[in-house]
Amino acid sequence: MGRLNSKDVLALREMSAEEMTLILDTAESMKDIIGREIKKVPTLRGRTVVTLFYEPSTRTRTSFELAGKYMSADTVNLATTTSAVVKGETLRDTAKTLEMMGSDMIIMRHPVSGSCHLLSRVLKCSVINAGDGMHEHPTQGLLDIFTMRQKKGRVEGLKVAVVGDIYHSRVARSNIWGLTRLGAEVTVTGPSTLLPPMVEEMGVKVTSRVEEALEGADVVNVLRLQLERQKGGLFPTIREYSRMFGVNRERLARAKPDVLLMHPGPMNRGVEISSEVADAVYSSINEQVTNGVAIRMAVLFLLLGGGEAA
Ligand code: CP
Repeated sequence: MGRLNSKDVLALREMSAEEMTLILDTAESMKDIIGREIKKVPTLRGRTVVTLFYEPSTRTRTSFELAGKYMSADTVNLATTTSAVVKGETLRDTAKTLEMMGSDMIIMRHPVSGSCHLLSRVLKCSVINAGDGMHEHPTQGLLDIFTMRQKKGRVEGLKVAVVGDIYHSRVARSNIWGLTRLGAEVTVTGPSTLLPPMVEEMGVKVTSRVEEALEGADVVNVLRLQLERQKGGLFPTIREYSRMFGVNRERLARAKPDVLLMHPGPMNRGVEISSEVADAVYSSINEQVTNGVAIRMAVLFLLLGGGEAA
């Protein structure tokens, strides 16, 4: 059994190829557990995991909670809207309070980039970044890569197109850091106003022509148009965005015939992706959700249960 080098999982930019591969390999066994009739192993009995989400979530929060429960950990969700956060308690004091109650791990989503790094410095327990602002969402990146590896049999050499609002997307950043480190060839595309300056320096190809990005792609990963983060009028209208960049059957025909279509969810159907392709046989959107539980079980196991670092 290998080990993770840190008590925390904060960013794929900071993770070696060996650590990522260890998590992906561990997730293979975890997926077997999810497929059983009785989804319960005693691995994390006596361990306590807290989810602390300052932004809405369906997939990430629930899959972390289920991952903990499937491995017999005690899981607690702190709803920030009904906690002392609304009385003005700081993030640091809130997290320290949870740690002093005996939490072994805090899984946090927060609108501010870098907030999970702050917690990792002030807490002795493990911290998992479940999405921090426009920075990273490492377990989403890992579950996307896991899905590609399962479906395509490899990551190295895959041509992956990431389509949409790259600028605001922590999912895009975690995909880019993880995929390039594992040897995939990544092309990003979207309106030029939604492409971060100097994004080429992340080791990707860039084009504002979606057709060019999709040409010969093995995998097309479509990002959600983050309407809640669009304050600056970065594109004219949603209809315009959909017409210019929406992934539909016609555009997808440029990719390889055995293309894998992905989306992290939640989808804006009819905006960044058409329902016709989202529900097609080559779409892995539902399987990504299951793989998210497997990846999160692997992370919990390696940090709290079986890894040498634990
Ligand atoms: N993909 C993702 O992070 O989904 P949620 O916002 O539902 O957690």
